[in-house]
Amino acid sequence: MLATLAVGGYIVFVVQAGADPMIAMPGLIYLFFGCALVFGVLMTLPIGGADMPVVISIYNAFTGLAVGLEGFVLQNPALMIAGMVVGAAGLLLTLLMAKAMNRSVSNVVFTNFGAASKHKQGAIKGELKPMAAGDAGIAMRYASTVIIVPGYGLAVAQGQQKLYEFVKLLQTGGVSVKFAVHPVAGRMPGQMDVLLAEAGVPYDLIFQLEDINDEFANTDVALVIGANDVVNPAARTDKSSPIFGMPILNADKAKKVFVVKRGEGKGYAGIVNGLFYGDNCNMVYGDAQAVLIKMIEAVRGLGLPAAA
Ligand code: TAP
Repeated sequence: MLATLAVGGYIVFVVQAGADPMIAMPGLIYLFFGCALVFGVLMTLPIGGADMPVVISIYNAFTGLAVGLEGFVLQNPALMIAGMVVGAAGLLLTLLMAKAMNRSVSNVVFTNFGAASKHKQGAIKGELKPMAAGDAGIAMRYASTVIIVPGYGLAVAQGQQKLYEFVKLLQTGGVSVKFAVHPVAGRMPGQMDVLLAEAGVPYDLIFQLEDINDEFANTDVALVIGANDVVNPAARTDKSSPIFGMPILNADKAKKVFVVKRGEGKGYAGIVNGLFYGDNCNMVYGDAQAVLIKMIEAVRGLGLPAAA
């Protein structure tokens, strides 16, 4: 960064002296961009997977500011306004995401500057316990309370319509169902809210992290569907984890946890999730939409009048 500033400063000095730097010293111009590139790469390389959205968003904001400044230089109001709007929106988004992850922006960007990722995950005790989709569906039909944690995989599978169909079946059977939405679930802010709204899920069933997190401990079943990092307990305990400090949904505290995912794929942060190995957890393997179809069939197959 210092080299970039020094070279940039020297170029400005030359320009003020009246010379055209592209003619007088083209090598320095390339050096300036080379230094800036190395600085950017070194700054970005050690950023842990879960922090990446914050970094992408702040770089986005910077492009806006750069365009705005270019507008000043070229005296072009359209560029100034467009740049400022992108810059302000990107900055707001960055701050919101950093807040949701319980981190400051400087902590996200500079903590590991120039270092390789230090995270080494210890062995996780326990084993993965697969369960058939139909059995998990029936278990939820006989539960009193179910909290659903949707994640990126639900959006990939486009399973939101089937999910709400399943929820309506459970509700008809007298089960209390709520949705718990993590602020960075999915790949865009608010993606889960939009996904659920698209399926017609009423807003009063959808709760944000801070409003529902205490309820997991008194809940019969947490259905984690296509989510991973947002329910990873390593965020609470493992200081070397790239998601350490991020508030997570307390799905592990529910009496029973069903996790729907296709296999042993990791989440965005690329780390193993201890929740899946817990005594109270069963894995329901398969594409989220296909699993939900099986769950619906199983619950309908019970033939109970309430679930008809
Ligand atoms: P992730 O941690 O990314 O986990 C998604 C899980 O879904 C994966 O483990 C994957 O496992 C499963 N999956 C993928 N396709 C599936 C399918 N068709 N059916 C069923 N499961 C499927 O998701 P999350 O819990 O929502 O967390 C979001 C992560 O993204 C966080 O780390 C967050 O920081 C990051 N991020 C967020 C944003 C914003 S702003 N929301 C932006 C960029 C990044 P299998 O492969 O085994 O199926």
